[in-house]
Amino acid sequence: MGWPIHRPRRLRDHRAIRELVRETQLTPLDLIYPIFVVSGQNQKRPIPSLPGQYHLSPDEAAKLAETFYGQGGRALLLFGLPDYKDMVGSSGADPDGPVPLAIKAIKAAVPPMVVITDVCLCEYTSHGHCGLIADQKVLNDPSLTHLAEQALTHVKAGADMVAPSDMMDGRVAAIRKVLDEAGFEDIPIMAYSVKYASAYYGPFRAAADSAPSFGDRRGYQMDPANRLEARYEVELDLAEGADIIMVKPAGPYLDIVREIRDRLDRPLAAYQVSGEMAMIKAAAAVGAVDFRAVALESLIGIKRAGADLILTYLAPEVLPWL
Ligand code: PBG
Ligand code: ZN
Repeated sequence: MGWPIHRPRRLRDHRAIRELVRETQLTPLDLIYPIFVVSGQNQKRPIPSLPGQYHLSPDEAAKLAETFYGQGGRALLLFGLPDYKDMVGSSGADPDGPVPLAIKAIKAAVPPMVVITDVCLCEYTSHGHCGLIADQKVLNDPSLTHLAEQALTHVKAGADMVAPSDMMDGRVAAIRKVLDEAGFEDIPIMAYSVKYASAYYGPFRAAADSAPSFGDRRGYQMDPANRLEARYEVELDLAEGADIIMVKPAGPYLDIVREIRDRLDRPLAAYQVSGEMAMIKAAAAVGAVDFRAVALESLIGIKRAGADLILTYLAPEVLPWL
């Protein structure tokens, strides 16, 4: 076996043949676009840490949804910046907060849009941690009721899916129970099951005003050095009723995406996080790489590693190229 009988270049000789044998396709239907919503009206403020992204009031989020849908986009992930914060993140469960109002505005403007909400406490707590705290420690079980309450608030406002990102143990089960008791047994949960304590979240924390005021998130998010623990987290979330499993970040963790894909019989999502996007943009801005080519290559890599769905801030920019 070998040359001269075997010549892999035969199938690379021209574009039509290359496309015929291409193993991985990226389509608009694979992409979920994360957006940041604030209260008020006519607000569309550029986010300094995230080039190309905005803080949007509900009416502006609805406009963005129309444009995105027109480009072929089908799903949004909502993050909220509340007007007030406290120790337990109660503004996260305010039915008049930016996320519930944005859900209503988006669903009214574009009914078929899949509206997914990030469920966490860090945007809503005064201390910026993803759960309740006592003595500088993040408490697990007392956080669950607050997370479930926030998820229920989103679903009552019309969210099609909730995505808990807090990494508390048992939150999928807690959210599932509260949704079911309220008659929302058909609302799926996309669990941030494998979420690493990553420095790639830097630009997001500036955008969402959610950096912890003391310590870090290593007491609840995963150690970047761990692989087997990712399998354990997925197993637990599936048992608790997660419908879609997520790995995050995506690009620096493609081995984990593949590892989970090979063992999972459910849809798998991967999140190309703020730092991954910022690095591509920064490199393109200084002329080191071609933005279009590297953006598309980064996403095909995530798809090839086994993700069915990709959460990416690049969604609106790459849609026209797909
Ligand atoms: C909140 C949350 C974070 C991200 C998604 N949800 C930040 C964090 O955990 O500190 C990161 C998203 C990104 O970097 O794009 N729990
Ligand atoms: Zn959080």
